Amino acid sequence: MSVPPSLKQRIAEAADLVTVALDELLPRAEGPESRLTEAMRYAALGPGKRLRPFFAMEAGRLFDLPERSVLRAACALECIHAYSLVHDDLPCMDDDDVRRGRPTVHKAYDEATAVLAGDGLLTEAFDIMAHPDTHEDGAVRAELVRRLAIASGARGMVGGQMIDLLGVRDDLGAVARMQRMKTGALIAVAFELPWTMARPAVGERHALTAFGRDIGLAYQIVDDVLDAEGDSEALGKAAGGKDAERGKTNYVTLLGVEAAKERVNLLSAQTKAHLDIFGDRGEILRSAVDFVLERKS
Ligand code: IPE
Ligand code: IPE
Ligand code: MG
Ligand code: MG
Ligand code: MG
Repeated sequence: MSVPPSLKQRIAEAADLVTVALDELLPRAEGPESRLTEAMRYAALGPGKRLRPFFAMEAGRLFDLPERSVLRAACALECIHAYSLVHDDLPCMDDDDVRRGRPTVHKAYDEATAVLAGDGLLTEAFDIMAHPDTHEDGAVRAELVRRLAIASGARGMVGGQMIDLLGVRDDLGAVARMQRMKTGALIAVAFELPWTMARPAVGERHALTAFGRDIGLAYQIVDDVLDAEGDSEALGKAAGGKDAERGKTNYVTLLGVEAAKERVNLLSAQTKAHLDIFGDRGEILRSAVDFVLERKS
């Protein structure tokens, strides 16, 4: 399956929109704390794929939501993602020097600044989400904030990062749980945020949530495959089996590259099937599954 040009265009459009919006939303303080805000901007405005914002924007389109609202929610989510990468790269975690083709934040600045830049992006996300411009109804805003918090915290990304660092997992079920938490939760919430705003029928809600869960899992398995056999330059981050070298367990270290790829292929049809309920309206998201499977960067 190849990825249609219309999908690439949509991803590029979402990336541009979110980068311009983040540039406006992130603080530009003068004075001594400007080192912090510069580091936050370095982390969030770098050349990321902006896949989570793209997912949120496409899910917003399914429900004809106003672009301005979904874009703010997408920016909040991308701030959390950018913070998670800054902390993930720290010497006390994955100890990586390159991210998005550039020095990681603690290399470009220093460790303390990287910790604070992550903290700054994490809290900024909730400022953006809770602002009345995100949604006119305060109860909806509170629910958006809560969903983002759950996906980001101990029950989601942060909890998954803890399990990842512990390193001891010898069964696939435990690896799947870790992946769903550390990566899946922030991808799944990209779909939850738009339906929280749109309040569609329960069937559509469940379908999108299931889609987000499966594409999130596939995304992290592909990340693990790329870690094992991807090209560091194309990826913009270290590869060459660094997870295995560091004693991390993932689908690839447990099953081997070929069996991990087979898992991803099996997940593909199942993931797309969740979108049946949306008919033709789900076409772009359906093709996004192929994009995730075939990505090299
Ligand atoms: C990298 O995420 C970390 C994972 C959860 C796999 P992305 O592959 O989305 O990274 P960017 O945002 O494009 O740099
Ligand atoms: C990161 O997983 C997941 C996060 C929550 C940041 P990885 O550690 O595999 O991500 P990369 O490979 O460094 O991008
Ligand atoms: Mg990690
Ligand atoms: Mg890492
Ligand atoms: Mg990785």
